[in-house]
Amino acid sequence: MELYCNNIPAMKPIEAQQRIRKLRATLERHNYLYYVANQPEISDRDYDRLYHELDALETAHPEFLTPDSPTRRVGGAPLAAFEQVRHRLPMMSLDNTYSRAELLNFHERLVRLLPGQAFTYIVEPKIDGVAIALRYEHGRLVTGSTRGDGAVGDNITANLRTIRSIPMALRGEGKPPAVLEVRGEVYMPRDGFMAINRAREEAGEEPFANPRNAAAGSLKLLDSRLVARRPLDVIIYATGELDGIFFDTHARLLAALKAFGFKIPGKFWTCRSMDEVLAALEELKNTRQSFPFEMDGGVIKVNERAFYEKLGATAKSPRWAVAFKYESERAETRLNAITLQVGRTGVLTPVAELEPVALAGSTINRATLHNADEVNRKDIRIGDHVYIEKAGEVIPAVVGVNTSARNGHERIFHMPDKCPICGEPVTQQEGEVAFRCENLQCPAQLKRWLRHFAARGAMDIEGLGEALVDQLVDANLVSDPADLYRLHRENVETLERMAAKSAQNLLDGIEASKQRDFWRVLFALGIRQVGAKMAQTLEQHYAGIEPLMQATPDELQQIRDMGPVAAKNIYDYFHTSRNCVLIRRLQDAGVTMTRAVGAAPKGGLLAGKVFVLTGALEHFSRDQAEQAIRALGGEVSSSVSKKTFRVVAGAEPGSKLDKARVLGVKVMNETEFTKLVHS
Ligand code: IVH
Repeated sequence: MELYCNNIPAMKPIEAQQRIRKLRATLERHNYLYYVANQPEISDRDYDRLYHELDALETAHPEFLTPDSPTRRVGGAPLAAFEQVRHRLPMMSLDNTYSRAELLNFHERLVRLLPGQAFTYIVEPKIDGVAIALRYEHGRLVTGSTRGDGAVGDNITANLRTIRSIPMALRGEGKPPAVLEVRGEVYMPRDGFMAINRAREEAGEEPFANPRNAAAGSLKLLDSRLVARRPLDVIIYATGELDGIFFDTHARLLAALKAFGFKIPGKFWTCRSMDEVLAALEELKNTRQSFPFEMDGGVIKVNERAFYEKLGATAKSPRWAVAFKYESERAETRLNAITLQVGRTGVLTPVAELEPVALAGSTINRATLHNADEVNRKDIRIGDHVYIEKAGEVIPAVVGVNTSARNGHERIFHMPDKCPICGEPVTQQEGEVAFRCENLQCPAQLKRWLRHFAARGAMDIEGLGEALVDQLVDANLVSDPADLYRLHRENVETLERMAAKSAQNLLDGIEASKQRDFWRVLFALGIRQVGAKMAQTLEQHYAGIEPLMQATPDELQQIRDMGPVAAKNIYDYFHTSRNCVLIRRLQDAGVTMTRAVGAAPKGGLLAGKVFVLTGALEHFSRDQAEQAIRALGGEVSSSVSKKTFRVVAGAEPGSKLDKARVLGVKVMNETEFTKLVHS
């Protein structure tokens, strides 16, 4: 039943339109099988084939391109701002309970409000993510939005379309309802969160405080192409406006949502009594680690939806549901002050200075407040009694405020407009929560920068550890990395605990670092978003610092895996005079600023050239062909675009060949390819 079509004959528009429709339906089906049902039926390669055929057809027939095509899941042009969406039904929140007693109160209230009526409960995990609404009209996704203030939210449709487990169209045979609005939670799975934070730290960016922040920050991005790279997922657990569809129980609603193609809570319990509810909550708590998302409790909902209207809602939350929050080990203490820590890239992180308190086996006197947004969101004030918890079992974090302990003397925290360490201006870039001190000479920033510069993954300067960096900066001997190369024995020997031998070791280490690979230098410079991997990619494309400094953002964006933000950061970096001065000084000191001869052999014959392979080659396995290209400095991509240098077509080529023809990309056969790589 698969739809393979290896070339695009000149189709009549009507045929193209039909084929496009068919391909979209097929791709969305496989999307569902892969991302929601977890039961893929075809290989990635076959999926790619279908995808590229659709992509090529849409390129050839742009009149049939629609925003809900599976090809649009990679994101589109950035927005200037989000439009606002008024929710037809308010997006409410839930009342929280923390104890059995509070939960029993909830139950007793329901019994009072529904005298003589029998009802049951559903218990579901409470996903710690970001609430969203998805509106389907006649089966098609039309709007995706955030909760906002509950009445009006942001239209984030383009961002939500990038989440593969969100159906573009409702599944199922029958006529879809006129309106189905569903609500759920976008989250970042734990493993994706860890991976993204590792990458951010490597690129000198502030890691996200927790998966919820990572999900929220991702959905706020105006560039959906960047959102497409964030590992986000969604779970749907409620409805908003409905027209032409009805559900009598929550259990049947969940079953229907599942049939429509949504991911629903992986586990939920139907309970006939409070004892069963408590048992379900206990089981949920004990198994919380087996869920891919962070769970902050359970949600208890009346199962019979007929009662919802009668039960109604308070100003904020419906009376038919309640959240039961799991207590993590927490302590309450006074927040004496908020200080600021300046990171390597100048990010100012507010830190809570606490009245010492015992928590989970240690005494805590400091905790992270993550960023100014968090401080404001949680309304944390200096002098407040705050709750602290150990996040991820290690770093203590301030999670909330005991507002009843306020005496009116608490002070609201404001991010200063000057860096507390160096007094230079603090700025906030559009779309970023972080405030930064832009002064590269800021001692706090400088120390962290030098530590990064000298680190093993970067310039690997033996003997230059944290304590020595502190001393060099404090003694005013070094005010940027280039100063390291001007240090003399006499300077170094004046430092505390610095014997002649260790002074010489340090100077030898610095001298040796001049010979490091060019990419290490690029990484060591600490350009925002340039981690070790990106630095290596840049080295592949640019033989030395000169052409890289000349590169335009457009040119940089042609590089695979380079988004517009990274391209702009790199461009801006090289167009800031102090950075240019630093580079010249490093160059004058003898630091490597060109790719090593042999790094891309044969003078990088294929440097910067992107190849796409399709079909089977007789004399090369796929791996061998890729290696041959990479050995000459070239790159291999899995999809054809205007950036592709050549498509190498073997026997039985796939749709990549068609795409190449549509885009006018040159194609070579195996003989030509062999000649090229063996020349
Ligand atoms: S039902 C009328 N079910 O928790 C409210 N909410 O603290 C309908 N949440 O606003 C929400 N998991 O963002 C519901 N299984 C679940 C949930 C859940 C997480 C979120 C949701 C809600 C917030 C309240």
